[in-house]
Formats: sequence, C-alpha cells, structure tokens
Amino acid sequence: MANKTLKGEIFYPSDEVLASARVRDWEKIRSEAEHDLQGFWAKEAAELHWFAPWEKVLDDSKKPFYQWFTGGKTNIAYNCLDRHIKTAHRNKLALMWEGEKGEFQSFSYYALWRETCKFANVLRSLGVQKGDRVTLYMGRIPELVIGMLACARIGAVHSVVYGGFTVEALHERLEDSQSKVLIVADGAYQRGKTVPLKSIADDALQRAATVESVLVVKRTGEPVPMEPGRDMWLHELMNLPIANNQSSVEIVDAEDPLFLLYTSGTTGRPKAILHTHGGYMVGTYSTFKYVFDIQEEDRYWCAADPGWITGHSYIVYGPLLNGATSFMYEGAPTFPFPNRWWQMIERYGINILYTAPTAIRGLMRFGEAWPNRHDLSSLRLLGSVGEPINPEAWKWYHRVIGKGRCPIMDTWWQTETGMFMVTPAPAVPLKPGSGTRPFPGVEMDILNEDGKPVAANEEGYLVIKTPWPAMMRTIYNDPDRYVSQYWSKFPGYYLTGDSARRDEDGYYWIIGRVDDVIKVSGYRLGTAEIESALVSHPAVAEAAAIGLPHEIKGNAIHTYVILKAGIEKTEKLLEELRAHVSHEMGPIAKPEQITFVDSLPKTRSGKIMRRVLKARALGQEPKDIMTLED
Ligand code: WT7
Repeated sequence: MANKTLKGEIFYPSDEVLASARVRDWEKIRSEAEHDLQGFWAKEAAELHWFAPWEKVLDDSKKPFYQWFTGGKTNIAYNCLDRHIKTAHRNKLALMWEGEKGEFQSFSYYALWRETCKFANVLRSLGVQKGDRVTLYMGRIPELVIGMLACARIGAVHSVVYGGFTVEALHERLEDSQSKVLIVADGAYQRGKTVPLKSIADDALQRAATVESVLVVKRTGEPVPMEPGRDMWLHELMNLPIANNQSSVEIVDAEDPLFLLYTSGTTGRPKAILHTHGGYMVGTYSTFKYVFDIQEEDRYWCAADPGWITGHSYIVYGPLLNGATSFMYEGAPTFPFPNRWWQMIERYGINILYTAPTAIRGLMRFGEAWPNRHDLSSLRLLGSVGEPINPEAWKWYHRVIGKGRCPIMDTWWQTETGMFMVTPAPAVPLKPGSGTRPFPGVEMDILNEDGKPVAANEEGYLVIKTPWPAMMRTIYNDPDRYVSQYWSKFPGYYLTGDSARRDEDGYYWIIGRVDDVIKVSGYRLGTAEIESALVSHPAVAEAAAIGLPHEIKGNAIHTYVILKAGIEKTEKLLEELRAHVSHEMGPIAKPEQITFVDSLPKTRSGKIMRRVLKARALGQEPKDIMTLED
C-alpha cells in the first residue's frame, strides 16, 4: 500500500506515528489473516486465558449459527480482571471516572476486581445463577461497569438498557429478556438536572412480571420509594459480610451467553442481540489492541455510553482485556461550558479519544476558542463511530483537536458485529469520511439487487462474507428472525443493512441505512417503535416516522400523524404527542417535527411508503411508486 498512489485527499501517517505503531505493515497482517483465518484468530485467542483449550477455532457446521472456540472454557471477566491482578497491572488504574458535578473516582485493577467480586456475591445471594438475565439501567457511573463484570463473573447474562430510555422501552426489554433482577440507580445527572430512573423503573415494573429483586444504586440521593421484599440498596448489601472478595469465578463455555443488547431493526420491536464469552472476548481484545494501538501508559477515553455496544466493547471489555486504563465521564459534553471535554483531556492527560461525529459537530459549533484554551498535547489518536463522518467534521477534529498530529480511526461496525469491521490502524493512510478497509480476516463486498458485486464507486448493499469471532450468535428468543433478517437476502452472506460504495483504492464509504432504521445523533431507532409510541396515544389513529438530514444530529425524526375522527388538530396536541413519545421511549426518540395529515402514502398491501414521504419532504420526485395505492 505504501508505494501505491492513492486517489483523493490522503492523510499519510507521520514518521512519528509510524515509529510508534505496533504494526507498520498492516497489509502483511491482512494477507496473513486472509490466507489463514482460523490461524489468525487462534493466535489472538492464545494471548488470553483459557481454563481448557478449544477444540475448534471455528465450527460452521450449523451456519449461519457459527460457533467459535468450541470446547474452550474461559470467562471474560476473569480475563478482564483476575488475569491482570497477578501481574504488574495489579495497581495500574483500570477505570477512571468523573461525575458531571466534578467528583472523581478511580479503580486500580485490584480495586475493580475486588468490587466486582463483592457485587458478584451480592447477585449470587439474590439467587442469580448462570444463565439468568439481569437488566442494568443507570447513567454512566462505575457501578454500571462493575455490575456488568459481576454478571459476567458468575455466568449471568447482562442486558444493559440505556439510561436515556424510559418506561415502555425498559418494560419491553425487561419482559423480553425475562430478567430476574433489575439493577437501577435512584437517578442520573443530566445537564445539571436529575432524571428519576428509579421511578421510571417502578412504572416499567408494574408492566413486567419476572423481576424478583431490584438493586438500587445510590447516585443522586433523592428520595425514592422502596418496595419491601423487592427493592434493596446496593451499598447496604455491599457492606454485608457476604460481599467479600472470596468469590469464585464461573468457568463457562466459549459459547455460553455473555449479554443481550437490544437494538432497532427493520420491523417491530427491538431485538435482543446475543453475544457470547469466547468469540466476543477475542474480537474485542484484538481489535482494540491493533486499532487503538494501546500502549502501557495510555489513558484512553471512549465517550460513548455503556448502554450501547460501543460502551460494552470499547469502554468495558476491549480496554480491560488489554490491561488498559479506561476513562469514563458521566455527563453532557457541554456542561457547564463547551470546554468540559477539553478540560478533562488536559486534566487527565488523555491519549486516545473515541467519540461520534454528532458530538464532534455539536462541539464544533461552539468554535475553536474553547478547545484552544486547553493543552491537548497528550492526545495521540482519535476515533469516530456511529455514522458516517462528514469530511468537514473530520478535518476539524483532525486539525483543532488532534493538532494535525493524530490519525483518526473511523471505525464502522454494529451492535451485531460486536467489534470493529471496517477500520484503519494508525499506520494506514486515511481519507476523510472513509473507514478505509476491513479489519484483517474480515472479507466484505458491495452487491447489487441481484447479488452481483458492483463496480468501483457504485452504491450497493454492504455484506460480510467471512465469519468473525465477535459476531452475534442469534436474536434471543427469535432464531428465525436472525436467519431471515441477516442471512437470507444474499444466502451465505451477512447483510449489514447499510449501503456503501468502494473506491478504486478499495476504501469503503458508508452511505447509510437502507432499512427502516434512523440514526439520530448516532443512536439507532426503528421507525416502527416511534410509530407505535405515537399510536399508543389515545388521539392518534396512524403514524409514520422518517429520518431527514440534520446538521448536528445527522438525522432528525419527522413524523406524520393521522388523528382519530373528531379530534382537533391543535398546537397543544402536537406538543403533547412529542412529550408522549419522549415519556414512552425516551428523549432521544422525541420527534423533531410532527405534521398532522389526513392520509399516508401506502402500498396496495397497506404498508406505509416511508421513502415517498421522505422524497416529498426533501422536495424530490419519489422513484418507483408503481405500488402506491393512491
Ligand atoms: C450502524 C450500527 C457500532 C457502534 C455504534 C453503532 C452506522 C456505525 C459507522 C461509521 C458510518 C457507521 C451504520 C451501522 N455506523 N459506525 N464509522 N461510519 N456509519 O452501533 O447502533 O448497532 O448501529 O451505525 O449505519 O449499520 P449500532
């Protein structure tokens, strides 16, 4: 690659970056992995601890239900913690945390291990066993990380629900996962205000039957009702003698479930993506090591939320598996002022910052003076994830935050993939807006409707052709949907749901979702969920949701509503409907705009034609409307 001339605007790695890069010849690793996929992953896996070795690296006998490291015995939490406390990492910082109000907490590997052991014993004392589901619902606080690790330690399956979701979203997830225990914070800080998570959870619990115990984490200290026999304060249980560090680790099979994470898909309710201990562990370990090129003294900050896959893989598991120091910040990027992030980078000497284009665009808006007030010279690498990064934001990030010195790792991946799939590494020449090429061992393609690869620069369906260890194993409770949604359009290939093009240099350019998923500020929402939240309001007969371009959010939700007969179209009702969606699903799902209409474009079979609405809203001619009813 180095001696080939690339087309377009290229940012080559500097000599300084090349000198410190773990891998200078990325092409060599890529071709090795291409020729011996299983050998590549076996070598990566061997860097971790296995209680018993695997028999097969990859078992594809039941594809698309691929299995990895079958027969191997391990535990991801053991690899994140126990493995390190036996080494010089024992007293190294594992987790650093700053609260929105400015308080600071840190955990060495030993301390994080100790707290996880105690938490694991608390869960066991509540009767949580291997395979049981535990839902966690809180803000970005250390207890969330510790709770996840404690579940993993005892072989329980965690299901983290993003703290920005509300009643109905939480209820659905509790019920679908049949969680035995809910771990919830009393509240969360958000832009100086508090969000009453416990009372939202109480509402959701009225609709969900399987939860036996509720562990409440004290964060805001605001009074919350406690239901006797069901609700318990975590800090009280953590002070009991049972909560000690004599906590055996559950030795699990590589293919035992680690977590469920709900995400939005094409139709209906959110689906629970299932990941397992072994393959997910190897995938997140290896991608984090190579892409962020983690070095012993690094302080790494992923500004995502643990409630999303980015936080699972790259705040918690990837960094801890690598013995890295992971920093987490509780609050809003601009609270109390737009320099909050830059201040923390300076204060803690952050070396790697990983965030989303929407956050960059949001901070860009406040101008360069805010970051320029701070010493950002500790930064060595930057990362981006969640949606395509527009070249303008890329260049601002590169110039103003990275001072032109820090390569940007634009990582394309999904909840389903578990790990980075299209990504550069520090030594790879970059093109702003492209995540460059697939990670070693990952083969992808771009296909037309007939399943034929498209020519360079043509748009098509992005598919993945080879299995990878951190791939989702199924949709929990719905294996048929796993097959139909991901493996059926082009048999044998994994369908990503994205459209993309590949340029003459083999660089991938993601265009966006081709299904009914809307990416709002990098968050993934389904049109169906927003529509059903609207229809759950007594005034609404029918609703349609679409995403339209938005300068900061990437996309914003626009909805069209048909009211029930006799209901008056008022400004007040508009506001009420927006608030209703926010109450049912969460503020991130609140429609930017609601328009009252008398009819919706539909196919003859009655499906709403969202692309017709979208084309109209954008002032374009809708293509291909043969099936339109009227
Ligand atoms: C969808 C997956 C994986 C972490 C966060 C999102 C979009 C993700 C990029 C990127 C362009 C991206 C895709 C993908 N996406 N990263 N670097 N460039 N688009 O996880 O919520 O499962 O969403 O996010 O559309 O399909 P997710």
